[in-house]
Amino acid sequence: MSTAEVLAAHGVQIVICDIQDDIGESVATEISTKTHNAKIQYQHVDVTVRSECNAVVEAAVRFLGGLDSLVHAAGHIHQDAAETIAESELDRMLDVNIKGTIFMNQAVFPYLKTRGGTILNFGSDFASEPLPLLAHYAASKGAVQSFTRAVAREWGKYGIRVNAVLPAVWTPMIDGYRENLEAESVAGHDVFMNDRVCLGEKFGDVEIDLVPVLAFLVSDASRWITGQSVPVNGGLSLVR
Ligand SMILES: NC(=O)c1ccc[n+]([C@@H]2O[C@H](COP(=O)([O-])OP(=O)(O)OC[C@H]3O[C@@H](n4cnc5c(N)ncnc54)[C@H](O)[C@@H]3O)[C@@H](O)[C@H]2O)c1
Repeated sequence: MSTAEVLAAHGVQIVICDIQDDIGESVATEISTKTHNAKIQYQHVDVTVRSECNAVVEAAVRFLGGLDSLVHAAGHIHQDAAETIAESELDRMLDVNIKGTIFMNQAVFPYLKTRGGTILNFGSDFASEPLPLLAHYAASKGAVQSFTRAVAREWGKYGIRVNAVLPAVWTPMIDGYRENLEAESVAGHDVFMNDRVCLGEKFGDVEIDLVPVLAFLVSDASRWITGQSVPVNGGLSLVR
């Protein structure tokens, strides 16, 4: 079950934004049907393009009649040895993970500034404890977490709370990551995750393990929490 689906089931009104229009449209339609036409819409955005970020947020505010929160989960992963990462791949990694995060945070700022709100960005444990072949991903997620702390400090005076979550949950990104590994490396990844995840499963479940934490972090129940990198990872990393 997707994050959007669980949030919508709790009555949250949502605009889903992604670059994969077919998937985004069908998720929005499915949720609308299941939740008896909850207020939900899909909008295309390429988060690497600032004008698209501004336009999609403007459209979302029009549709929703206001804005309380941004959950910015768009992300890119790719594997390569640090010494051979191509410039084009480096650009893609930094564009999606860093510039995309900054552009979307900037786009919602004018709307949240007037009455406060919450932003959740997505970091990664691998920023501080990288796996092999993920140096560029690690660098990009470290930057996301630094940016999150910086804007939490700058925007706190407007009542805007900004946190990062560091998940370890099964998603298409994890499937894609593992599909690109040699069989031996998949086995190595299993051993690493089995060793490191204290709670005994390799990855958590989006609906059960991640979404309740997202719901907490966007709600007033977490009104005294900002600027944090919050691991939701079964104990994968115990220090950050
Ligand atoms: N799943 C995990 O365990 C895990 C661990 C650490 C960090 N993360 C981070 O959590 C976030 C969500 O990851 P996920 O596992 O759901 O991955 P996912 O690949 O399933 O979802 C990422 C989404 O980002 C979208 N996207 C990519 N480039 C985009 C662009 N230019 N514009 C708009 N959308 C774009 C993709 O289409 C995809 O729907 C990511 O930032 C990821 O790096 C996930």
